[in-house]
Amino acid sequence: MFLPDLLKDKVILITGGGTGLGRAMGERFLDLGAKLVIASRREELLKQAADEMERAHGGEVLPLPVDVRDPDAVERMFEAAWAHYGGLDVLLNNAAGNFASPTERLSPRAVDSVLGIVLHGTFYCTLAAGKRWIAAGRPGRVLNIVATYVESGSAYVAPSAAAKAGVLALTRSLAVEWARHNITTAAIAPGPFPTEGAWQRLMPPGMAEAALNRIPLKRVGRHEELANLAAYLLSDMAGYINGECVVIDGGEWLKGAGQFSWLEALSDEDWMQMAARAKQAK
Ligand code: HXC
Ligand code: NAP
Repeated sequence: MFLPDLLKDKVILITGGGTGLGRAMGERFLDLGAKLVIASRREELLKQAADEMERAHGGEVLPLPVDVRDPDAVERMFEAAWAHYGGLDVLLNNAAGNFASPTERLSPRAVDSVLGIVLHGTFYCTLAAGKRWIAAGRPGRVLNIVATYVESGSAYVAPSAAAKAGVLALTRSLAVEWARHNITTAAIAPGPFPTEGAWQRLMPPGMAEAALNRIPLKRVGRHEELANLAAYLLSDMAGYINGECVVIDGGEWLKGAGQFSWLEALSDEDWMQMAARAKQAK
């Protein structure tokens, strides 16, 4: 269903595009004809990733160093990206910081660190893109990567939950406010997709197998599944989707939310007894 020219000549800026899911999405976009900017803090890593991505997938990948917590650096990075390609079509806010910790152990700097990358960084990049699109009279698309706990919150990752919920609020706010400028937004809430960055910080050693029990499909996500969803959402075929957040998690968060999900532990025999008890009660 994905034609090779689905994203032909679209210029897509991916924050955090040199690693993990950002890189996986970028590689898929290259296959579909896009041109990329990848931007994050580690310049050498970015340059190497850009080389490898171009060699494996063709197209053009411009690596630009930036710390998204610094609004001046964000401005400089957008200036360089815009000048290089003569404009941008898509901003993919994918950069994030996160780690698991009891909240009472966090220092103010730890809180600022996650909120700075996820909420402020996303906001600064969105402002830098939006101002340019509006001034140039060009259409634009913002895709934000959030998490399934944007609605529920989550113990042990409170700064990330608060920041990602803010990003979702931004996604929905701008869907309405900037539609008149032909700028639209969307978000993706991924469940577990193993990456080095996330697993090192969030998955206690030896617990990956046990974590599968939380997921009705009993498997983690494949990077290409997320990349295909992102490609669709950035294509013109999804032009009427505005302000929506798509969950891609094998049913994980619904299982956590459903009051009786835990009954999956019952055997056939347990169910026979349950039915007999219910009939007796009648
Ligand atoms: C408690 C911690 C901590 C930890 C850092 N800090 N790690 N506190 N527990 N595990 C504290 C430090 O002590 C310091 O506070 C403050 O946070 C800033 O730490 P620095 O190391 O100086 O920050 P910095 O170099 O800016 O790094 C930012 C970072 C780091 C967020 C801490 O982890 C990072 O660079 N992350 C980027 C990549 C990432 O996180 N990827 C995962 C995304 S996954 P003090 O007071 O001591 O100075 C994701 C998935 C969600 O979002 C859903 C999964 C299913
Ligand atoms: P990752 O590889 O650690 O990606 C995080 C990226 O953000 C890195 O490339 C990092 O590059 C960049 N980054 C961090 N701080 C930055 C800063 N201050 N300025 C600029 N860039 C910065 O982890 P991932 O798993 O692929 O995560 C990608 C996205 O998916 C994140 O938004 C995450 O919240 C989301 N997500 C992931 C999962 C999952 O299961 N993996 C689940 C839900 C949501 P530098 O270090 O070079 O700066």
